[in-house]
Amino acid sequence: MAASKPLRPQPRAEIMAIDAYVPGKSGVAGLAKVHKLSSNESPLGASPAAVEAFRANAEHLAAYPDGSARALREAIGRRYGLDVEQIICGNGSDELLSLLAHVYLRPGDEGLYSQYGFLEYPIAIRAAGGIPVAAKESHETADVDALLDKVGARTKIVFLANPNNPTGTYLPFSEVKRLHAGLPGDVLLVLDAAYAEYVARNDYAAGIELVATSENVVMTRTFSKIHGLANLRIGWAYAPAPIVGALNRVRGPFNINDAAIAAGAAAVADAGHVERAAAHNARWLPWLTTEISMLGVGVTPSVGNFLLLRFPRDNGRTAADADRFLSARGFVLRAVAAYGLPDCLRMTVGTEEANTGVVAALAEFMKGARRDG
Ligand SMILES: Cc1ncc(COP(=O)(O)O)c(C=O)c1O
Repeated sequence: MAASKPLRPQPRAEIMAIDAYVPGKSGVAGLAKVHKLSSNESPLGASPAAVEAFRANAEHLAAYPDGSARALREAIGRRYGLDVEQIICGNGSDELLSLLAHVYLRPGDEGLYSQYGFLEYPIAIRAAGGIPVAAKESHETADVDALLDKVGARTKIVFLANPNNPTGTYLPFSEVKRLHAGLPGDVLLVLDAAYAEYVARNDYAAGIELVATSENVVMTRTFSKIHGLANLRIGWAYAPAPIVGALNRVRGPFNINDAAIAAGAAAVADAGHVERAAAHNARWLPWLTTEISMLGVGVTPSVGNFLLLRFPRDNGRTAADADRFLSARGFVLRAVAAYGLPDCLRMTVGTEEANTGVVAALAEFMKGARRDG
């Protein structure tokens, strides 16, 4: 008789098929000061009003937060002219993305996203028991025809980051509408607009209009990027009331804390701070694009607060070599091999000191690489 194995809890098989999300590095061993350009955080930090609101909450830590995040939903509703009943807040937009997959996928259903789409999508789809399906991109940009080609009877959710992380590319609203028009009514389209505030293009829209005029579109947003509140974990979604109702049934009853509610409400009301952060980005994004391209490093045109840099393949000049070289000088970028982009690094637009420093270090790296090569 075979020896019986000791019993132990077994996760569902699809959970073990997930490659756990690896966040951007924060530091470099042995270096006291680093410029963290690996997680698309705001170089301007949070609005002083948000910091003050956060501090004021230190007096109330024993009490449960307002589980409905009413004050935050009202502040968002005022800022964007939205019905608060159609807004739901999450512990980061990550939580909402994952809840959407859990609520709308049955085991064996397919969740669709684009080739270089945000890595949380396949994770959320698998965790919900679904099958992740990726559609080819063209020029590192989501391709509506390729996405629609992959839609079948089992497709139940489509995630589109617009602009996308890590490429920084975007789809004009006309293309988003074409994607929506090609989807059956029972397929949920999730427009993840985490970087919407940075986009300065006339043909871009985050998706509010599409949510308002359809029953199968959700727009997600975050306070982690332009609002500089990544640490507080605040995301929100604008969605048709039945979708909000479904999400409210499965979210943690106190998924956002009061300090985050107060800080988020103050942040979204501080239009000046958002404008300053957008202006900083508008100044440095083109500068970095030009300067880095001139060094012989490929730069994908970006509308976000980050750039995808493509390095040569020859020894001494690869993305991994550049990562080591920059890290040793205190510039922490993001390796994106997990996205199928082993030749690339993603760089957040940082402070003036960080931006000029990276360009100088990259110039040294490319020169040294040329000499050695
Ligand atoms: C496209 C995209 N969506 C969502 C998120 C998650 O943001 P949050 O901090 O709100 O969970 C990120 C964060 O990097 C992102 O790049």
